[in-house]
This record gives sequence, C-alpha cells and structure tokens, in this order.
Amino acid sequence: MDMNTLKEVIFNLKKQKNAIIVAHNYQIDDVQEIADFVGDSFYLSKVCAEREENVIVFCGVHFMAESAKILSPQKKVLLPEIDAGCPLADMITADDVDRLKEKYPDYSIVCYINSPASVKAKSDVICTSSNAIKVVRNIPNNKIIFLPDKNLGLFVKKNVPEKDIILWEGFCITHYKIKKEDVLKAKSAYPDALLLVHPECREEVVELADFVGSTKQIIDFATSSSAKEFIIGTETGVLYSLKKLNPEKEFYLLHPGMVCPNMKKITLTSLREALLYERYEINVDENVLEGAQRALRKMLQIG
Ligand code: 13P
Repeated sequence: MDMNTLKEVIFNLKKQKNAIIVAHNYQIDDVQEIADFVGDSFYLSKVCAEREENVIVFCGVHFMAESAKILSPQKKVLLPEIDAGCPLADMITADDVDRLKEKYPDYSIVCYINSPASVKAKSDVICTSSNAIKVVRNIPNNKIIFLPDKNLGLFVKKNVPEKDIILWEGFCITHYKIKKEDVLKAKSAYPDALLLVHPECREEVVELADFVGSTKQIIDFATSSSAKEFIIGTETGVLYSLKKLNPEKEFYLLHPGMVCPNMKKITLTSLREALLYERYEINVDENVLEGAQRALRKMLQIG
C-alpha cells in the first residue's frame, strides 16, 4: 500500500470506529503527522481523560496507554505495538514500594508517570516531567519518596530544597547516554545556541542547561524564544514539532544516540492494523485500577 493510501485508510478507519489517535513527541514523524493530538505525557493524559470518543489509539509506550485506560476505564485503549515498553518504568515494582513504605512509614510517595499501574496504585500522587516540582510542592507532607527516576528526582530536590526527598535509583537509558563531555563539545561547536534538556538527563547535564523541561515545554520554550539556535538534550522525535513550528531556527541534537527504540516501534502500518483489528487492547488489573486512578486524578487536580 503506498503512503497516501495508507494515510487515507487510517483516516477512514478512525472515523468508522469513532477513535482518536494521540502521539507522544518521541514518535516517528509519520505518526506525529497523522495523529489528532501530539504532546508530552501530561498533555496526552489530559486529552485522553477529556475526549468523548470510544476508542483511543495511543502511539507511545505501554505506561502511557495504561495511564489513558486508568483515567478512562470505559474506553477501549489500543497500543499498536504491544512490545513498546519503557525500561525506566520496569525499574520499580509494587513489592519495592511496599518495602519502602515499611521502612519510611511517615513519607508520602510521589511517583513519575513512567511506572506500572501496580506502583501507581501504591503511590499518593503521580507526576510527569512537566509538573513534578509543582506536585512535590503541593503535597502537605515535607517527607517525600520520589519514584522511579533519580535524575528527575534530583532536579525536583534542587528546586524544592525545603523538603526531605528520598530517591529511587531508576533512570532512562536513552537520556542517560548524554554526558558532560557531550555538552561541552556541543557548546563549543554552537556557542550561540541555547541548551534545552529534559530532566531525565544526568545531573551534570541538567546543571549546564539554559532550560529544563518536558518535551512540550522544550518545544514551547524554543518556539517563544527570540534565540535562533538550540542544542536539544532529549529524544530525537521532538525535532519534528521544533522544526515544523520554527522553520527559521536551527536545532542540533546533543547526542546522535538520542533514539528511544521503544518509541520508534509504531509505524503507519501497525497503526492501521491497530485500528482495523482493534489491537492491542490495554487493560488494567481491577485490583490496582482504583488506587492508580486516585493517584493520577490527584495529579490532574494539581495540574
Ligand atoms: P514527557 O513528560 O516530556 O512526555 O517525557 C516523557 C518521557 O518518557 C521522557 O523520556
């Protein structure tokens, strides 16, 4: 099937099934182009919770589709590639949370959305990279356990020094690749460029940045900035919106290896098959659904 026919088939199937297609900023260009909504984890979780359509095709990774299902259990949520996981989300289990709770009974648990539903269910509140600081500040308790990303946790800790924050040792394998040397090299190659990085980067990288934020916040920052050149410290997929919204500006990827293999699994072919065969349907264990819903809704309330 040629590209144009494939796009037309997807469009028709979407209408026929009363579906919406949402895509994370890290998806391949073709998928971002055909999606109804493109954004970061926070924006997409809000879109999925608010829309009326019966079917959500989530072009992202498993925890994102799972979060959409938790927020809208009555809808059918499809993930076009069932193996699109997140190694960071797999670095923590519900048993780990039980052990932490036993050891630190008077701490509140703030859990990054990059986590399994079973872990969310045992947490007090969820956050994303765009609202982690706000969420931690809003919790009345000054004692916090932050799960599972240690780099995002460190970023929060620096911005909320008045709270006692215990970190878990998880990390994103893609962002972890960037080191201080890469930043110094990029800065000397592009001395006029601003450095925009995701908070999942190592502390030594975040410290040198001009701006730290979620994928959407990075795109918004570059779009509203008067600067003309930017070094980008996150996954290559963000270049799609950055270049589309700012054709007159230059963007340089901080490291050539900034490619999340899981985010790149979904293609237009798997998207068509997802709609046609209504696969792969994401369901959430009913024992954890209510708890995960409470923690996610609390995040949406905080904003
Ligand atoms: P966002 O909050 O920008 O969606 O980041 C999600 C993510 O998984 C980054 O690696």
